[in-house]
Amino acid sequence: MKRILITGAAGFLGSHLCDRFIKEGFKVIGMDNLITGDLKNIEHLFKSEDFEFYNHDVTKFVHVPGKLDYILHFASPASPIDYLKIPIQTLKVGSLGTHNLLGLAKEKNARILIASTSEVYGDPLVHPQTEDYYGNVNTIGPRGVYDEAKRFQESITMAYHTYHGVETRIVRIFNTYGPRMRLNDGRVVPAFIGQALRGEDLTIFGDGLQTRSFCYVDDQVEGIYRLLFSDYIYPVNIGNPDEITIKDFAEEIIKLTGTEQKVIYKDLPVNDPLQRQPDISRAKEVLGWEPVVDRAEGMKKTLEYFKGFSQEELQKSEHRDFLNN
Ligand SMILES: NC(=O)c1ccc[n+]([C@@H]2O[C@H](COP(=O)([O-])OP(=O)(O)OC[C@H]3O[C@@H](n4cnc5c(N)ncnc54)[C@H](O)[C@@H]3O)[C@@H](O)[C@H]2O)c1
Repeated sequence: MKRILITGAAGFLGSHLCDRFIKEGFKVIGMDNLITGDLKNIEHLFKSEDFEFYNHDVTKFVHVPGKLDYILHFASPASPIDYLKIPIQTLKVGSLGTHNLLGLAKEKNARILIASTSEVYGDPLVHPQTEDYYGNVNTIGPRGVYDEAKRFQESITMAYHTYHGVETRIVRIFNTYGPRMRLNDGRVVPAFIGQALRGEDLTIFGDGLQTRSFCYVDDQVEGIYRLLFSDYIYPVNIGNPDEITIKDFAEEIIKLTGTEQKVIYKDLPVNDPLQRQPDISRAKEVLGWEPVVDRAEGMKKTLEYFKGFSQEELQKSEHRDFLNN
């Protein structure tokens, strides 16, 4: 049986990846220090003999006994609320953590895929973003801790490939949503749904004409799965190009939840990207991948998940955001 290590296993994407690889017949080793993750996301896997879990901080030396065939490095705070609260940990997990995992991949002769992000493009000056675009990042701006950690992560990954011959893959993930996101992680999908279900007005930052494109988690996992088993070593965008303004998205949520909420407008923070949309030509060409779940279907499934929270839980998890990420 093939063995795979998944870091960030108790988080949103990591937990879905654990599910997928268990389903595909792998031995899965999950690793997480629970800084933004939750064991609830993987508790259903603890009864499986094919799943092991290490509560470990990957910025410290990482040791895993036995053979390893693959590593997926997904540990990192991922929402602006999180990485602004824990900026040093964010820089460390992208740099030291990635270094440790590349070292482990080299030692075990394992193939490693690292989770990068559309944030490497910063506030992009080209639209939509192709992988050849170098980005427009403010190193010392509020998002710099995340964006630069991820850019360093890509550089050190390519260096390990070039100098040590480690088999590496790099996925640039664009906004992904679905069940198991944290209600108050500040990202716009749970933020709007949480506000609607609590009976609060939905907060839009700026004029609401900034665009986002949202990829459903099952599509994202499929793209990552195909990339891991492809021969392609350069970064690949995985996301859904279906673009929508934040204003229209808020209206969609109000309609979907059947609530009577209004939207309220607040000032836009600095360095908030006004447009973000992946060019997925490369993923189509090298992976034969494109998203198949449209927003209506994906949002329905996501809303079902959040409806599982009691009104008490919803109220307890107070609304936190300062941008529509
Ligand atoms: N969800 C998205 O839309 C999106 C977009 C772009 C990139 N990504 C990337 O995907 C990965 C997962 O994101 P997510 O949305 O699942 O976020 P998440 O916060 O739900 O999951 C991240 C997980 O990593 C863990 N973690 C953080 N630092 C750690 C450390 N030092 N050691 C061990 N575990 C640690 C957290 O506890 C958490 O469980 C991240 O690398 C993120 O940058 C996600």
